[in-house]
Amino acid sequence: TTNHLRHVESLATMPSGAGNIPHLNAIVLGEALAFEENDLIFPSDDFSRQAHVPSPLKYLEMYERSIEDPAGFWSDIASSFYWKQKWGQQVYLENLDVRKGDIRIEWFKGGITNICYNCLDSNVEAGLGDKIAFYWEGNEPGVDATLTYIQLLHNVCQLANYLKDIGVKKGDAVVVYLPMLMELPITMLACARIGAVHSVVFAGFSAESLAQRIVDCKPKVVITCNAVKRGSKVIHLKDIVDAALIESSESGVSIDVCLTYENQSAMKKESTKWKEERDVWWQDVIPKYPTTCAVEWVDAEDPLFLLYTSGSTGKPKGVVHTTGGYMVYTATTFKYAFDYKPSDIYWCTADCGWITGHSYVTYGPLLNGASAVIFEGAPNYPNPGRCWDIVDKYQVTIFYTAPTLVRSLMRDSDEYVTRYSRKSLRVLGSVGEPINPSAWRWFFNLVGDSKCPISDTWWQTETGGFMITPLPGAWPQKPGSATFPFFGVQAVIVDEKGVEIEGECSGYLCVKSSWPGAFRTLYGDHERYETTYFKPFPGYYFSGDGCSRDKDGYHWLTGRVDDVINVSGHRIGTAEVESALVSHPQCAEAAVVGVEHEVKGQGIYAFVTLVEGVPYSEELRKGLILNVRKQIGAFAAPDKVHWAPGLPKTRSGKIMRRILRKIASRQLDELGDTSTLADPNVVDQLIALADV
Ligand code: PRX
Repeated sequence: TTNHLRHVESLATMPSGAGNIPHLNAIVLGEALAFEENDLIFPSDDFSRQAHVPSPLKYLEMYERSIEDPAGFWSDIASSFYWKQKWGQQVYLENLDVRKGDIRIEWFKGGITNICYNCLDSNVEAGLGDKIAFYWEGNEPGVDATLTYIQLLHNVCQLANYLKDIGVKKGDAVVVYLPMLMELPITMLACARIGAVHSVVFAGFSAESLAQRIVDCKPKVVITCNAVKRGSKVIHLKDIVDAALIESSESGVSIDVCLTYENQSAMKKESTKWKEERDVWWQDVIPKYPTTCAVEWVDAEDPLFLLYTSGSTGKPKGVVHTTGGYMVYTATTFKYAFDYKPSDIYWCTADCGWITGHSYVTYGPLLNGASAVIFEGAPNYPNPGRCWDIVDKYQVTIFYTAPTLVRSLMRDSDEYVTRYSRKSLRVLGSVGEPINPSAWRWFFNLVGDSKCPISDTWWQTETGGFMITPLPGAWPQKPGSATFPFFGVQAVIVDEKGVEIEGECSGYLCVKSSWPGAFRTLYGDHERYETTYFKPFPGYYFSGDGCSRDKDGYHWLTGRVDDVINVSGHRIGTAEVESALVSHPQCAEAAVVGVEHEVKGQGIYAFVTLVEGVPYSEELRKGLILNVRKQIGAFAAPDKVHWAPGLPKTRSGKIMRRILRKIASRQLDELGDTSTLADPNVVDQLIALADV
């Protein structure tokens, strides 16, 4: 209660100006706070006292400045990085309004820097050379390794020199298909060092997906490893790359060099299939190169990486992030949202194949000089206590993961958690999908012993870094709410007409002005960038998410409002799954919807219409699922295939997904109006086949 009082006092002394931030009005009133007491979880006094942002008042002060004077706020922060040359007069330039011309976002343009230099050289110069940058924990308990900042720098330079040697230049793309070995962040940093643009493809994607990305960005080189062990399974990554390279060359993109790391714990060199004229063993060449490598200085607006992500329609989109703004933004969000201190040991369970691994395994932590754990294996191998074993082993203080992992571990005995001390933990984090309050409480009470604030960070591949997130120590928490916008983020909720709504409300989550970490375009398709994100609600960036705001101003994310499905925090486009299904010769038509899933958040539910005369069979069901695994990856495999003699369509031929969602979730009394369907009988036929 002392802390509660302190918070209320701090709110009572709020400067009047704070009241001008509409969405914070309620919490400023303090009264709301007291009223909601039972739902609020306060950080301890001790925690708040040591936090970067110790109170709502401090947050408001900083937030207000970030909105009123973005240029001043962000250039003050940016000044603590190394710039070969300072940015020009204009700190940022933006047009988020399609009615006023092309969408354009620039931060620190004219500033010359290098993110690898800021991650490594700067820290070494500051005396952190012998600090551990990465603790690597292998799939098998007991298999581990470390790299200090200076060792990491040397490794990065060797690879950077090799890449230069084979002709990779500034602006060239490099495709990376690696599991969570230290070589993955090493590769990202080596690319950044020489100004090359990395495009990491999650090593769970299939050969076809990998080929599609290679064809789109035409890399100079592909970097992979021979195999990886996840849990008790060995996955032959090199075979997948071989298949992808055959496919991409058929589409006219051939790759001269495939640099392959020998991951000895999974597979020996000798058993790896090899193409002499193209394939190169990492261990044969990289150690021979010098451990220093001059930095390629780049403009703040030069591209740093491409990362493909799924949309509601069409092919995956190549999200483009640039250097300067992304650097400043990931570093700053990391520091504040996790209340990072130099003594912390940080562990994020995400894979570098996703944006979380880019911003919060590689760049954010290193820019702060942090020590981070990288884990190669599966979180429940050899048993569901593995995560807490790792927490104790490395004395992890900040643990950042996804709700799906929390929910899957919750199903096992609590004893898997309580047998470990977990005393080192002080901050927990969650990302990827809304965290349901029961999972939140289990995470908070059991894993964090009711003392660690949870940073439920809402953001996206497109946003580069956190957008709505608790600042531990500042806010009383509400289980399941991502709380308030980060500094510089003007999050707004709009109605279906695109009109901003104030106070307690729900609607579409948009952002009103740019922030340094925003993506700048979609690779090779600026028009799609504008159409997808800026045209739905002119004047705003549209996130694709629904959101409500409660009377205290807290934000509650409610999931995607488009045809994107979020499976275990992985974004999957319904159109991609549908196209994989219909490529099966016996499939005439398919419609895919998301359905609630106890562990994965959402599962994939596919309605499939077969070619006339083809009978339903278990074998065919398996064949259809296999098609999706082959074309996208195992993580996108439908959980359920529902045979559909026909699909509910309007007279103009549009599939009514609303009805399919209700059938998929068996909410049969909520089907709504079906009279506008071309053939209303279809619905009864579908219901009759629900359990076939
Ligand atoms: O729906 C939101 C959900 O994940 C989507 C972004 O997916 P992706 O680009 O793959 O990035 C995932 C990691 C940042 C969002 O549109 N999402 C992400 N974090 C949260 C979330 N939904 C609710 N709460 C979150 N904390």
